[in-house]
This record gives sequence, structure tokens and C-alpha cells, in this order.
Amino acid sequence: MKHEFWNERWQQRQIGFHLGHPHDWLVTAHERFPASSRIYVPLCGKTVDLVWLRDQGHEVVGCEFVASAVQDFLREHGLAAQTERHECGSDSYECHRTPGLIVLQGDALNLNPALVGGPIDVIFDRAALVALDPASRKRYVDGLHRLLRPGGHILLIAFAYDQSRVAGPPWSVDAATIESLFGERFLIETLAVRAEEGSPRFQAAGVPEMEERCCWLTRKD
Ligand SMILES: C[S@@+](CC[C@H](N)C(=O)[O-])C[C@H]1O[C@@H](n2cnc3c(N)ncnc32)[C@H](O)[C@@H]1O
Repeated sequence: MKHEFWNERWQQRQIGFHLGHPHDWLVTAHERFPASSRIYVPLCGKTVDLVWLRDQGHEVVGCEFVASAVQDFLREHGLAAQTERHECGSDSYECHRTPGLIVLQGDALNLNPALVGGPIDVIFDRAALVALDPASRKRYVDGLHRLLRPGGHILLIAFAYDQSRVAGPPWSVDAATIESLFGERFLIETLAVRAEEGSPRFQAAGVPEMEERCCWLTRKD
């Protein structure tokens, strides 16, 4: 999914994915996070999970490519950031630094490990993998693997539904897809599965509900 698509969604305030409170599965799975972890939150939007994780004593890095989403996030949390620009190949990132929390404004698919400041202990992916079109998944997962320290973890929250009825985002990512994307390089533990009501667009397409799945992945090597 391209920048223009997401930019338009943010401009038109079509951000039904934004929760406004910490994700309940993040809160319950948090006991698994090593203390004082370095945490990466890809495709972070303006999620309050960023500040919630920082407030638990972690060092947090988020990445989001829509500038207005990043500005909304900083304003809504009263964060006065120091901002600097980094060039990374043909990509450019605005790095907004606040104590314990950095938000990188730029493309998460091209993120270089140097930009996140070293190996990551835990990646929190909620509605990030499912936001990417299927053709981008392998590149995204390779990138996550590069950022994560050996033995590090991904807390993954994804949605699955009948993809033949409606196109994403969110794209359907079921248990078999998670296995095929991560199984070779990660141990996969399913923590929870539940039904989640589909958006009005999904309801209209005959998808009244989706299966929401929470997995704890551990990098093997
Ligand atoms: C479905 S939203 C989820 C946001 C957040 N994870 C949450 O739970 O609220 C996906 C977000 O990813 C952003 N995004 C999509 N592709 C991206 C990319 N390649 N790099 C950075 N951000 C991206 C979109 O602008 C959008 O804010």
C-alpha cells in the first residue's frame, strides 16, 4: 500500500484502526517483555501504545510515514521533540527524539538498523503486517529479522478473514501465512484468538467479523 493511500486516509480521518487506549493484548503479554527493553513499533500511526511502553520503562522507537500522523501523535501527548533529518540511501527520515521515545517519520520498509540505534529486543506489530500488501510482506519480515537481536521477540497481532470477499487493508493474515512468513526463523506461540467485528466496509462485503490473533515469536538464531 502506497504513501498516497495512507496519506489520504489520515487527511480524511479514516482511522478506525486507532484505538485511543493501550491494546489489551499488549498489556497482558507485557509480562513477557524483558525489563528495560529496546522496543520497535513499525507502522505505528499515532498509537498510544508508544507512550504506554515508554512508561513501562522501555526505550521505544516507532516508525510511521505519514507526517500528519506523527505530528498529531506528538501534539496529543504534549511531546516537545528534537528533530533531525537522516538520509538513508534514497530515503529520508525525520527523527523526532523525546526522552525514552523516538518516532521516525519515513518508510518502515527501507529502515536501516543504524537508524533505530542498535539491536531491538522486542518488536510490537499490531495492524502493521496486515496493513502491507502481500507483495511487500517478505521484505518487511526480512527487515524485522535484521533489526531484532538473536533470541529477540515479536508480539504480533493480525487479522484473518475470507480474502475472496474484500480486499485489504487490513489484508488477511491467517495462522498458515504467519507460519510461512516466520516459521523458518522464529518459534511461534499463539497467545490468543478471538472474533473481532468487521468495519462497515467489510460488513457490506459479507465479512461480519474477522479472526484476531496474537502470537509471540522468538528469533531462533
Ligand atoms: C492500520 S494502521 C496501524 C497503526 C498502528 N499500528 C495502530 O495500531 O494504531 C497502519 C499505519 O501504517 C502506516 N504505514 C503504512 N505503510 C507504511 C510504511 N511502509 N512505512 C511506514 N508507515 C506505514 C499508515 O500510514 C498507518 O498509519
